Formats: sequence, structure tokens, C-alpha cells
Amino acid sequence: NWPTNVTIKEVGPRDGLQNEQTFLSVEDKINWINQLSRTGLQHIEITSFVNPKWIPALADSLEVAKGIERLPGITYTALVPNRHGLERAIEGSVDEVAVFMSASETHNQKNINKSIDETFPVLKEVVREALMAGKSVRGYVSTVFGCPYEGQVPVENVIRVAEHLFEMGIQELSLGDTIGVANPKQVQEVLPILLKRFPIEKLALHFHDTHGTALANILASLDMGITTFDSSTGGLGGCPYAPGASGNVATEDVLYMLNNMGIQTGVNLEKQLSAGHFIQEKIGRTLSSRNLQACTIN
Ligand code: HMG
Ligand code: MG
Repeated sequence: NWPTNVTIKEVGPRDGLQNEQTFLSVEDKINWINQLSRTGLQHIEITSFVNPKWIPALADSLEVAKGIERLPGITYTALVPNRHGLERAIEGSVDEVAVFMSASETHNQKNINKSIDETFPVLKEVVREALMAGKSVRGYVSTVFGCPYEGQVPVENVIRVAEHLFEMGIQELSLGDTIGVANPKQVQEVLPILLKRFPIEKLALHFHDTHGTALANILASLDMGITTFDSSTGGLGGCPYAPGASGNVATEDVLYMLNNMGIQTGVNLEKQLSAGHFIQEKIGRTLSSRNLQACTIN
């Protein structure tokens, strides 16, 4: 009963690079994103327009956004925390804006310097103005399956944040396992509760792979009919304001699994591997994607 088609949203250039000690040049970022544009991916999160003091690795977001090739049919997204970020994202001509906040109070405070209730009016304005500017708008809710500061997060807290974001007008909500603590049993307990409230086609899953459970969690989500997953080339990624968080589930690993299950993604694995080898060399260490390592040609 798995879906026949799945949409992969590549977040490597944003989530993947935001926590890296190695800062890539603008040229390398643009080169990589241009390669990703040719893999068949239809959604690429290219950068974030946050305060560069908070995320120095992405301080060049405007240059990256202005420098990349735009291929037809691809949605180029950027993460935006507030009005200031939205203005820069519009200047960078992104197609889509992604707003973000957490289901847990402490992570929200540490990550964006506001309480959950203080965040709502800020994002409401961003969503309204982004829609008025003709952008699509995606939302993220972080710490859905656990918080690095608070531990377990009640699903009621996730629902409350999700309801506020949908009321603002977001078109899709990505459920973040920010620190990669979820397991398939938990996924199969939490998702049905959310699916009672929110349409399945408006939900995406964003698994980090800290403990190696991300692919299992994707399979558990597929069992429930979820068709949109975020992933990152090579398994790069992590939130600097969530201690212990490691990379996103690797795009190459998700593609390998889905391809061999007969689930269509429209993404060419060979081309994705080639983009993975490119970025691995630029980062200068072995990335965590199992499939990328299995397909290394010496
Ligand atoms: P703040 O310090 O409270 O902001 O930070 P402020 O509004 O008080 O402004 C302070 C200064 O920041 C001002 O400059 C502003 O101009 C500047 P000054 O006058 O002092 O020179 N500023 C900005 N500059 C550039 N772009 C902006 C911007 N906004 C203000 N957009 C803020 C609040 C939200 C900006 C800050 O906390 C921040 O940038 N946080 C971002 C943290 C982040 O990017 N975390 C990682 C992404 S989230 C994630 O990874 C999770 C996810 O993957 C899903 C999952 O895995 O769960 C999405
Ligand atoms: Mg993330």
C-alpha cells in the first residue's frame, strides 16, 4: 500500500551547510546547486536568510540566490525567520519561502530568540507578505519527536503550532525530527493524530539520522501514505542550536531505497551521486550517506 510517487525535497544547501565548520565558497555552492538542478529534483532549499551572526556558513545567501541557474519546473526555496529575511529572500527572487519554529519552548527560544507565542505574529506577517509577493510558503515545525532541551514533546504542542501555521496560510508543513530521535513506532503513533487534523498532502516529513533510524522512519511514514520527504545530499546537516543533532537522512539513501521499492521520485540516482561526490570533496571529509560510500569509484 505504499504510494507510487514520492516527492523528495533537497535541503542540503541550507540544512546541510548551516552547521558545517568548512565554509564553502559562493562559487562552489552555486556549482553544487546547479548540479542538483539537473538531477530531476523539483524542490531545492538553496539557503537561509537568517542573521549571519547566528549562521555564518550561510552569510552569502543573497549572492547564492542571485547566482544560481533557475531551471523551469524547479521550486527554489529559502528559509526565512522574519520580515528582514523575507525582504532579502524577495531580493534574491526565490520561488518559495519556508518559515520555521519549534513545538518546544526551549528550542524555539534558543533557535530564534523568541517564545512560541512571540513567534506567531512575526511569522504571520512573513507568510502574509510572502503570499502577497507571489511566493509559495512552506512551514517547518521542529522538535516534533523530541527536543534536545525538554525531551519528549507532547503532540498537543505540535498540533497547536501546526494549526497556527496553517491558519497563517502556509501551503505545506514539514514535521521536523530535529535531533533524529524518532523511531518507527513513535512515527506510527504520532502521525495518525496529526492526520486526523491536517490533510495528508500538506504534510512532509523531515528526518535527521542521528541514531540511524531515519530510513526506518520514512518507511513507517510511507506505510501511512506520506508522499513528501526532505533529505540532504550526502547526509549533511544539523541545527547548530540543537546540540547533538547530526545530518538529515541522505538523499542518495532515500533514492536507493525508493527506487528499489518501485516508488517513483523522478530523481536520477547517478546524477545525485555525482553531486554528492562533488560536495563531499569540497567539504573535505567522508559524508555519512551509505549509498554514496557504496558507490565511490576509486
Ligand atoms: P535576534 O537577535 O532576536 O533579532 O535574532 P533582532 O530582530 O533582535 O535583530 C538583531 C540584529 O539581527 C539586527 O542587526 C537585525 O538587523 C539582524 P543589528 O541592528 O544588531 O546590526 N537581523 C537579521 N539580519 C539578517 N537577516 C535576518 C535578520 N533578522 C535580524 N533575517 C533571529 C532573531 C531569528 C534573526 C535569529 O535568532 C536567527 O537568525 N536565527 C536563525 C537560527 C537558524 O537559522 N537555525 C537553523 C535553522 S532551523 C533548523 O535547522 C530546523 C529545520 O531544519 C527543521 C528541523 O530539522 O526540525 C528547519
Ligand atoms: Mg533540519
